[in-house]
Amino acid sequence: MLEKLKQIASQIESFKIDSSATLEEYRLKFLVKKGLINELVDEFRTIDNNLKREVGKELNLLKERANQKWEEAKEKFESNKPTKEQTIDVTLPVHSVTYGGKHPITEVIDEISNIFARIGFTTEEGPEIEDDYHNFSALNFPPNHPARDMQDTFFITNDFALRTHTSSVQIRVMKNEKPPIRVICPGRVYRNEAVSARSNCFFHQIEGLCIDKHISFADLKQTLYFFVREFFGKDLPVRFRASYFPFTEPSAEMDVFLGTETEEDYRLTKGTGWLEILGCGMVDVNVLQNVGLDSKIYSGYAFGLGVDRIAMLKYGIKDIRTLFYNDVRFLSQFSSF
Ligand code: DAH
Repeated sequence: MLEKLKQIASQIESFKIDSSATLEEYRLKFLVKKGLINELVDEFRTIDNNLKREVGKELNLLKERANQKWEEAKEKFESNKPTKEQTIDVTLPVHSVTYGGKHPITEVIDEISNIFARIGFTTEEGPEIEDDYHNFSALNFPPNHPARDMQDTFFITNDFALRTHTSSVQIRVMKNEKPPIRVICPGRVYRNEAVSARSNCFFHQIEGLCIDKHISFADLKQTLYFFVREFFGKDLPVRFRASYFPFTEPSAEMDVFLGTETEEDYRLTKGTGWLEILGCGMVDVNVLQNVGLDSKIYSGYAFGLGVDRIAMLKYGIKDIRTLFYNDVRFLSQFSSF
């Protein structure tokens, strides 16, 4: 029996465990109930009593060695414990993580969209490259209207231009959807204007459109009052001034009263206390006809809000151009983290 013990001992020594598969092979061969070691134990029971002392000692040593080898290999191949190299040194200084934030323009667009969402307005977007039809003709611009002039519009070809306002999205919505319609359409618009601290050759607007039966100017005013209260946090005085837009009749511009108490308000309102924030009106009958809506059944209102000016007001930004330099030192001031 001692002979056999030695033989198995050398088998154990020479068994190469180099993966979790060979580890399992090892276990099956030596350690399980029907493995070689238990076979020896069974045999041990049958040997002569005076041999037991010596053989028993050897057998125990063999068992110990077999288990030890298994434990060591298991540690290496089976355990999920990270190795020494992989363990984390908690005393090391942390890597600093820089979080991004929303651009102030996006912040304002999101805030305004949320206010209108609460009264049933969904959000839609349209292309920045527009054709003459959506940007001008369908919106009732006469063929020789000065806004079509090269001075104001960046033309791409004879038929395509960078949209000069988000009113073009109105046309797309009215052609694609049936009333009742309540949408706001935020987006970037482009105009060939001299760039300065107060105006840029691109900026952002939010168009609003509501079409249904029996919509009146009173609905428009109430909606805008609601917006002012929610956005500015209080009922600022509001005034409507009669105006002209080809696509609305009657048309108005809306101002909010900021006052002239602070130097900033004085500057922004050019000393009047009033700040113009949007154009609006009842959708012109010609526009309804252009998109195939029966103006005897449906009426509606529209408004167009300038986002950049509101963002400048909200964050006290003095130069519109700083919004678009992508200077992280500037933008990180608005990071919400
Ligand atoms: N599209 C106009 C602009 O670019 C703004 C505007 C005025 C939009 C009146 C409207 C509106 O929907 O009814 O200045």
